[in-house]
Amino acid sequence: MTQIISVVGLGYVGLPLSVAAASSRFQVVGIDINRVRVETINKGISPLEDISDQKIHELIENKRLLTTTEFARIKDSEVIVICVPTPLTSDHKPDLSILESALKAIAPYLRKEMLVILESTVEPGTTRNIVAPLLAKGSGLKQNEFLVAFSPERIDPANKLWEVRNTPKLIAGLTDQACEKAIQFYSHFIDRLIKCDSLEIAETSKLLENSFRLINISFINEIAIFCQKLGIDINAVISAAATKPYGFMPFYPSIGVGGHCIPVDPLYLANKAREIGAPARFIDLADQINQEIPGYFVGRAEEKVGGLKAKRVLVVGVAYKPNVADVRESPAESLIVGLKQKGAQVFWHDELVQEWNGEKSSALSSNYDLAIIATPHDYLDLTKLGNVPILNTRGSI
Ligand SMILES: NC(=O)c1ccc[n+]([C@@H]2O[C@H](COP(=O)([O-])OP(=O)(O)OC[C@H]3O[C@@H](n4cnc5c(N)ncnc54)[C@H](O)[C@@H]3O)[C@@H](O)[C@H]2O)c1
Repeated sequence: MTQIISVVGLGYVGLPLSVAAASSRFQVVGIDINRVRVETINKGISPLEDISDQKIHELIENKRLLTTTEFARIKDSEVIVICVPTPLTSDHKPDLSILESALKAIAPYLRKEMLVILESTVEPGTTRNIVAPLLAKGSGLKQNEFLVAFSPERIDPANKLWEVRNTPKLIAGLTDQACEKAIQFYSHFIDRLIKCDSLEIAETSKLLENSFRLINISFINEIAIFCQKLGIDINAVISAAATKPYGFMPFYPSIGVGGHCIPVDPLYLANKAREIGAPARFIDLADQINQEIPGYFVGRAEEKVGGLKAKRVLVVGVAYKPNVADVRESPAESLIVGLKQKGAQVFWHDELVQEWNGEKSSALSSNYDLAIIATPHDYLDLTKLGNVPILNTRGSI
């Protein structure tokens, strides 16, 4: 018999998960507070580059996927998966307000034996101390009458090799029964599931993975600055070091990390670390370096064209990484602010993003004094820049 499940939050995490589940044995109710997003999906249009319109259309047509803004549609589900954003507040502290509001909206429809799985990134203790109690309070059920699990998402948008099915997934439950039921659920559309002994292990693993990336990317960006000052090609250095068959993993230079995960999640860990008196200094330093990199490239741009006042500068690629349209936490924003502060007339080009901060993408042409390659999407044809000087943030000397 087809089982009904609900996915709350249909973004970069929730929509691919919904599609994977709906393509296996489940009928998926996708819930999002963004009416436009819901209507777009229901029209058979995919809002994400990794999922085709055809796939969405097929699932909607066959009634495998239904998206709605109404939380009441949860009521017939056996499993509810939460994939809402967990951002930072303006003073860089974890902001759980979106998660809490989703939990309050879900709770009235919770029934005995239902399984609620949190996929959003959180600090250790959140599933046990916030998610389960809020669900109990809002539903009137006792905590042992429903099931709660945590399974961090590892999706890497635009990655053609690792997608929902073949990316190993960590799972932990508030109880053994919750963990087993979550494993059973995911086993229908994910190849390898790894059981963690506690919710806190799974929560902290996700923070460790993303902190590891932030620290190493910030580190390679410092080494890139070092190499640039010495006139050494950083990418050649990385290629040489990467011939070592053990104990080295390559990371590559850029204008810094962006997106909803790498610049954000490590600060969840750092915040908890401060609270318990075990400061995570590497994370704090990596965060600081990451925020300084766009300013460093403003300085490089200034040097390259002999001052930026009234210069026409084109920033090429403003999404936070190649081949996606996501501009959240994109370091291109600080780069543009810094260039403007120096008096430059700044334009940007990104056909994937198209419109951003009330401005439209400008064409690639020879009509600029400088082009800065911030995010090198595959589609870019840099020959259109003609003789415009280029500053490449991906490792130019
Ligand atoms: N983007 C990634 O690559 C990635 C990877 C791994 C983990 N994560 C984690 O997954 C979580 C979700 O991230 P995302 O990138 O999918 O975010 P997203 O912004 O792409 O999508 C979140 C969706 O949730 C919806 N939403 C917001 N509040 C809601 C509410 N109260 N009820 C229902 N829907 C609501 C939004 O409208 C949006 O469509 C975060 O905790 C993030 O750290 C993200």
